[in-house]
Amino acid sequence: MFWLSLAVLASQALPASASRLPLRLETRSGLNSGLANVHITFNDLVDGVITYSYGRCDETRLNEAHHTLGRSSNTKESRLVWVLPNDARFDGCISAWDQGGQLVGRSEPQRLSRRKLKRRGTNSIEMTNATGIDAWGPWFDGVELLKNKEISAVDVEKAKSKEVAIVGAGMSGLMTYLVLHQAGFKNLNIVEASQRLGGRVHTEYLSGGPFDYSYQEMGPMRFPESIEYSNVTYNITDHQMVFQLAREMNALNNYDKNFSVDFIPWIQSNPNGLYYHNGIKLDTGLPPTVAQTKANTSLVISYPMDPSTKTLSDKVDAITSNETFMIELASNTFKAHRDFLVNGLGGLGGDTWSEFAYMVNYLNATLNDTDVLQGGATSFWNAIYDNVYFGATKWKTIDGGVHFTLTPILD
Ligand SMILES: *[C@@H]1O[C@H](CO)[C@@H](O)[C@H](O)[C@H]1NC(C)=O
Ligand SMILES: *[C@@H]1O[C@H](CO)[C@@H](O)[C@H](O)[C@H]1NC(C)=O
Ligand SMILES: *[C@@H]1O[C@H](CO)[C@@H](O)[C@H](O)[C@H]1NC(C)=O
Ligand SMILES: *[C@@H]1O[C@H](CO)[C@@H](O)[C@H](O)[C@H]1NC(C)=O
Ligand SMILES: *[C@@H]1O[C@H](CO)[C@@H](O)[C@H](O)[C@H]1NC(C)=O
Ligand SMILES: *[C@@H]1O[C@H](CO)[C@@H](O)[C@H](O)[C@H]1NC(C)=O
Ligand SMILES: *[C@@H]1O[C@H](CO)[C@@H](O)[C@H](O)[C@H]1NC(C)=O
Ligand SMILES: *[C@@H]1O[C@H](CO)[C@@H](O)[C@H](O)[C@H]1NC(C)=O
Repeated sequence: MFWLSLAVLASQALPASASRLPLRLETRSGLNSGLANVHITFNDLVDGVITYSYGRCDETRLNEAHHTLGRSSNTKESRLVWVLPNDARFDGCISAWDQGGQLVGRSEPQRLSRRKLKRRGTNSIEMTNATGIDAWGPWFDGVELLKNKEISAVDVEKAKSKEVAIVGAGMSGLMTYLVLHQAGFKNLNIVEASQRLGGRVHTEYLSGGPFDYSYQEMGPMRFPESIEYSNVTYNITDHQMVFQLAREMNALNNYDKNFSVDFIPWIQSNPNGLYYHNGIKLDTGLPPTVAQTKANTSLVISYPMDPSTKTLSDKVDAITSNETFMIELASNTFKAHRDFLVNGLGGLGGDTWSEFAYMVNYLNATLNDTDVLQGGATSFWNAIYDNVYFGATKWKTIDGGVHFTLTPILD
């Protein structure tokens, strides 16, 4: 009798067996780095926000946990990235808790390998100001510096067998993989959080495939090709890399039409485009076209600037209308960036201002003048770059959109 009641008590104190809980939590590969994927399977629905934690395997409350992995209210979530803190203990469990603090999932005990935190091999050169390589600075100063370091004496085989993790299977990640693979690197892995390749490059096929041209570009859509200044056309070389990549991929795929990436013109604006503005309509009930608004200014509402804003706007235009600089930017973004860092705006070197800070501190802007700001640019360099990007006269887009036929090998 006595033993039996103890057993009953014990089973009340312990959480329900993991297999009966609504969520199944597992890691499927060795925990030997600072990051791991936690795979989540919902056996039953759980309402509200779920909190994931790591701690002892017999914990009964979330606040006893060693650390929290994350929170989610999405019951379709199938994976969670776990950033393992350095002091995470061995043989703990991952737990999931519902909003009321009830345990809703628990993993098997996790075996954390002792992680080697040595990040740099003996041959690497740290990218810090101390070595003269400012990772945020103009990149070819770094390239020059590396050339002068005479690092050719490295063991090439050893260097190329180094384990390389590429974070994200977007365009940059995929291209980095291709370039390193072609350079002979053997130990490459792409880590991707979502279930698809392409990142921001995302084509949705309305009838399920590229065969009938019914698709919508959900991502960056178009690439600037060239820009005109004083009737001379300049290639926007920054984006030539995209076209080169397509040529390279087509060659690698033996020009198989099923995989080919071909470009067609992208129409960025068109005189017949409709101009929706503050409900202005023609007698026909339709909004005017772009051409009609150009021909008849009363179809456009203009907001006059107050004098101080106009003055500020002119000062900004003076910077962004420096054709010599814009042509340099279109032709060689990297060189233009360096010149910008050295000579800066009005002789002030360095890319240290947001648009707002520069206008306030150096162009004497007031809060009345904020409408001169372009949306979204985090730095003045960014605003200047956008000026060339969106000033393009010719654009291209991918014929038929991009469909990735690769099946990602993801953990
Ligand atoms: C490195 O140098 C750049 C440019 O001189 C400077 O802006 C940056 O703050 C420096 N970084 C560190 C960590 O000292
Ligand atoms: C550009 O060409 C047009 C038509 O040929 C001409 O009218 C215009 O003056 C030229 N502009 C410049 C800046 O050369
Ligand atoms: C611009 O780029 C195209 C290839 O995309 C090339 O054929 C052409 O020669 C380039 N023009 C200039 C002026 O560099
Ligand atoms: C290209 O796609 C078509 C239609 O899906 C298929 O019949 C054909 O075999 C494919 N060609 C190659 C070389 O894979
Ligand atoms: C310009 O547009 C206004 C507003 O729709 C209209 O009343 C006017 O007749 C138009 N003028 C011309 C010349 O078409
Ligand atoms: C225009 O840009 C060029 C190239 O960066 C520079 O040398 C020149 O000083 C700039 N002109 C003005 C008026 O800022
Ligand atoms: C900003 O104001 C100061 C003080 O009035 C003046 O010296 C300076 O030239 C002004 N700067 C600009 C860019 O207008
Ligand atoms: C902003 O504009 C208002 C209205 O024109 C004016 O009264 C005020 O002095 C201005 N403020 C500044 C800082 O320029």
